[in-house]
Amino acid sequence: MIPSVKGTRDLLPPETRVWNRVEAAAREVFALYGFDEIRTPVLESTELFVRSVGEATDIVHKEMYTFTDRGDRSVTLRPENTAGVARAYVEHSLAQAGRPWKLYYIGPQFRYERPQKGRYREFRQIGAEVLGPADAATDAEVLVMLFDFLGRLGFTGLSASLNSVGTEEERPEFIQALRAWFSSKVDLLDADDRRRLEENPLRVLDSKNPRLAEWLADPSLPRMVDHLSRQSSDHHTELLRLLDAARIPYRMDPLLVRGLDYYTRTVFEVTASGLGAQNALLGGGRYDRLVSDLGGPKTPGIGFAIGEDRLVDVLPEAFRESALKSAGSVGVIPVGGPDVAEAFELAAELRREGLAATLFSGIRSIGNALKVAEKSGLRFAVLVGANETARGVVLVKDLATRSQEEVPRGDLVAALRPRL
Ligand code: HAM
Repeated sequence: MIPSVKGTRDLLPPETRVWNRVEAAAREVFALYGFDEIRTPVLESTELFVRSVGEATDIVHKEMYTFTDRGDRSVTLRPENTAGVARAYVEHSLAQAGRPWKLYYIGPQFRYERPQKGRYREFRQIGAEVLGPADAATDAEVLVMLFDFLGRLGFTGLSASLNSVGTEEERPEFIQALRAWFSSKVDLLDADDRRRLEENPLRVLDSKNPRLAEWLADPSLPRMVDHLSRQSSDHHTELLRLLDAARIPYRMDPLLVRGLDYYTRTVFEVTASGLGAQNALLGGGRYDRLVSDLGGPKTPGIGFAIGEDRLVDVLPEAFRESALKSAGSVGVIPVGGPDVAEAFELAAELRREGLAATLFSGIRSIGNALKVAEKSGLRFAVLVGANETARGVVLVKDLATRSQEEVPRGDLVAALRPRL
């Protein structure tokens, strides 16, 4: 046997039903907010992620699946989808349409991480991006849409962690304050943290080094929100006001900096119990320079990506149950070889009426077919036999209650439909 690659996995039925229902809910909710789907390639130029996600991030530094193709180009399996969306926006001159673009995507991403619960090397994201508007109402609406979606899945009690990481112009002063503050604590920093303090000081704030934990909780630690310009500060205040008005649950987290370099101003994450503190359910934020950094016109943007694997892991039981039940509903079982043609026709008739019908042909015995039907999660079995056919009826077995009744063939759809 050749096993699947470490950190990747097969999604099998009936679990795929749950995934499909989650994705259908996302498409439905996002469409309500005027979002359209975009599909970008899984494979992109390595340069795209170096320029957008950032050279000094963990993702680019040590997690990318990068290789040289047969044409000697350095290509990378996308570790995230925002860069690809921004690239497509520039490549297809979407700015020329002179309107905001609201885009969503659902698809696989790749990061060479240590596999563990909720962390895979191939994982899937459901994400959305708004390109164009820079106002706080856009930030608020993205969060409202997100909570609308999570609410439809049955989540309650989730709350967003929120911060502002300011703009490129505002950050140097904060970074200076941060470096000064850490200068007396260099001994506590491990090699990784020291590198971060040098190359990308904000990253020290989400260090997982346990020796730093206490210091990071220290009230004297500089906070980015205290170093914002008037404009960024107003943006932040307006966002909080709109979130309060929309009753979106959030808490401020001055340590939230996110692991990608393109963010400006608003950043947010949602964690769910059951995932472990380091595994966020989703993350997002504003990126007002990304498009221009990739050679496009100055275009602000904001978006989020939900880790679909993690989402499915912590999905409320009621949603999961109902998705699992959503499979085919009626098994059509010919009693004997000569009944197959009649059963074939009956299954086709049920499908024309919009009922999902599974035909059982080539069966070993009725008992066996009934067992298989039950195991497959079907609700009803319809037995088609010569005797019954001659009398214009079929035998309907309820696989949950095990009761059975004869139903006139012409009444079958009307009898089954309300019970499915
Ligand atoms: P991110 O925080 O790197 O942001 O990833 C978003 C989500 O993807 C995470 O919160 C997590 O649920 C999931 N995720 C990340 N890595 C893994 C993994 N190895 N296994 C399973 N799930 C994982 C981004 O990717 C940004 N592009 C989000 C964004 C969109 N910002 C603005 N627009």
